[in-house]
Amino acid sequence: MEKIVIKGPTRLTGEVTINGAKNAAVAILPATLLIDGVCTIENVPNISDINITCKILEGLGAKINWIDKHTITVDCRNLTTTKAPLDLTSKFRASYYIIGAMLSRMGEIEVGMPGGCKLGARPIDQHIKGFEALGAEVTVGKGIIHAKASKLIGNSVYMDIVSVGATINVMLSSVLAEGTTVIDNAAKEPHIVDVANFLNTMGADIRGAGTDMIKINGVKKLEGNATYSVVPDQIEAGTFMLAAVATKGDLLIKNCITKHLESITAKIVEVGGEVEDYGDSLRVYCNQRPKKANIKTLPYPGFPTDLQPQMGVVLSLANGTSTINESIWESRFQYTDELNKMGAKITAQGKSAFFEGVEKLYGAPVYSTDLRAGAALIIAGVSAEGTTEIFNLEHIDRGYEDIEARFRALGANIERVKF
Ligand code: UD1
Repeated sequence: MEKIVIKGPTRLTGEVTINGAKNAAVAILPATLLIDGVCTIENVPNISDINITCKILEGLGAKINWIDKHTITVDCRNLTTTKAPLDLTSKFRASYYIIGAMLSRMGEIEVGMPGGCKLGARPIDQHIKGFEALGAEVTVGKGIIHAKASKLIGNSVYMDIVSVGATINVMLSSVLAEGTTVIDNAAKEPHIVDVANFLNTMGADIRGAGTDMIKINGVKKLEGNATYSVVPDQIEAGTFMLAAVATKGDLLIKNCITKHLESITAKIVEVGGEVEDYGDSLRVYCNQRPKKANIKTLPYPGFPTDLQPQMGVVLSLANGTSTINESIWESRFQYTDELNKMGAKITAQGKSAFFEGVEKLYGAPVYSTDLRAGAALIIAGVSAEGTTEIFNLEHIDRGYEDIEARFRALGANIERVKF
């Protein structure tokens, strides 16, 4: 077993380069199932969720080759089965993309019920509604989802809830369908645009991604044999931005799309931090104790739920009492118990948490309860006085590559040790 040990406090300074987006890559890789050719995907983050996605694709017959640390080729010309490895698909949430892609390509798929971070109930009714609207039959039972369609026909799909996964899944299942599909009340996150751009590069006809209405004109075939580079990770960039503020540091965050970070920039300025925008990089610094602020998480372009715990560390240290209202995931405040072990004064009640700011956090043994909670605990550990030990690293490794090396390069006293 491994743990991360941090000796703080450290004011983070220096430059960090942002990797490709996890949430785009975990959709683009399944999207290669639609392509009758070899795709080269660049800027793929080297994280465990990607390794699992690759193993699932290989289980279906894909040939995957890592060219270098962040580039892979995927050849899905000869798929061999419509049964995805059940143990792997039930390990993480984004395995639901295999359903949309395989329905399109093979007309049938069986996967394990998607797993992932325990953030509360994570239904997939909107995905299923979309597949059924296109003519698929979907059955769910004993932890297995079986979807089948002799033919997919374009249709209108109104999302009852703004869902990233369901929006992408309906795109995946409709690109090769007969006729036109219109997704209304679609999610607008940067990775939705990225998946649409990838599919369009391969010959799809998807219009309006990034707005709340996406139109997909079905095409006969996607040709592939092209190279595509995954968009920079909005959440990883936001994590380092908030790390700069929490540690009263000064970071140059390179290879990011600053437009994707506007809601985070606005909140950083509100708490007294400074953000300089250079288009593809941001300088973020903070010379004072953060001021209080109120946050409500929302679908893009609102403040992302996946940065709520990292923002929670900033607000734990703020001057005054702040409130966070979580509107996406009901169990996203589990990290507050861990921060309280470090001296924070947070009261979580249902969808809200109240942060009575303290001047200092103190090192303590803490447990990463999910992926973004893990990132928040690293930020807390770097800003805290004394030694913090973080356990349950498998959550962090799902979504952050070389996390301790990258914090160490910014001055943190952080290491991963076996125990
Ligand atoms: C994606 C992200 C995740 C992020 C979330 C919200 C990936 C792989 N994961 O998750 O990191 O926290 O977006 O930005 O991209 N819902 C339903 N029915 C459905 C689908 C969703 O009720 O069929 C609800 C969910 O319970 C949740 C809300 O809709 O309350 C948003 O979920 P959704 O956008 O689908 O999240 P994911 O795609 O799973």
